[in-house]
Amino acid sequence: MKTGKLIGSGKYRDCYSIEGTHLCAKKKRPFHFKLKYFRPGFFRDLNKEEFKVYSNMPPKLKEFFPSNYQIEGSLLISERPRDYDGKYSKIIQEHGPVYNVPFWEDIDTIFNLLIEHKIWLFDVFNKGTNIMVQKVSEDVYKPVIIDCKKFGLKSYPLQLHLLFESELRKKLIRRLSYFHRRFKPESIVTKSEELRIK
Ligand SMILES: Nc1ncnc2c1ncn2[C@@H]1O[C@H](COP(=O)(O)OP(=O)(O)OP(=O)(O)O)[C@@H](O)[C@H]1O
Ligand SMILES: [Mg+2]
Repeated sequence: MKTGKLIGSGKYRDCYSIEGTHLCAKKKRPFHFKLKYFRPGFFRDLNKEEFKVYSNMPPKLKEFFPSNYQIEGSLLISERPRDYDGKYSKIIQEHGPVYNVPFWEDIDTIFNLLIEHKIWLFDVFNKGTNIMVQKVSEDVYKPVIIDCKKFGLKSYPLQLHLLFESELRKKLIRRLSYFHRRFKPESIVTKSEELRIK
């Protein structure tokens, strides 16, 4: 397996193509002795942690992740989502506002599944770099989550965690409304919103 060109960078990891495949590999960014790299998480193995989070997802939620998630040494491998015309899909930040109802129906579904299963993935909605817009056909676009690492909260004792649950839910709601403001055109109304309006 040979890594090729750099296809994207986050705060913690770089993502490379894998030659001769439609896969990509996430790799920890090289260490620089600069203050800005001393973030929580920099010294953790986020690839392994993300793989574990993914592996424990309910099957319905896994549908919104790329296929072929696997660990190879220190690399996290996954499929690069492609559009119906064969081109690689774009992250929503590059794509811009999404004028497509099925896409936003899926975002509602993702949000409801996260709440139902108490999966507090705040990083999904707070920036435009962790969701891709996969054009399945001319009329149907699908969100694909490409980053599901988790920060914080793990070490809270259970009782405290329960106490905070409503706060966690509120935080996820805030992140989603920020995501809506950035990428959801006002003209788009999903089924659940229609029901609320009636
Ligand atoms: N499966 C994938 N297909 C295509 N591009 C991908 C894929 N996974 C990651 N990327 C690209 O690599 C970038 C960095 O990956 P990732 O979001 O996992 O890094 P990170 O450092 O953990 O991010 P963050 O800054 O959100 O903490 C993504 O924003 C995206 O551009
Ligand atoms: Mg990211």
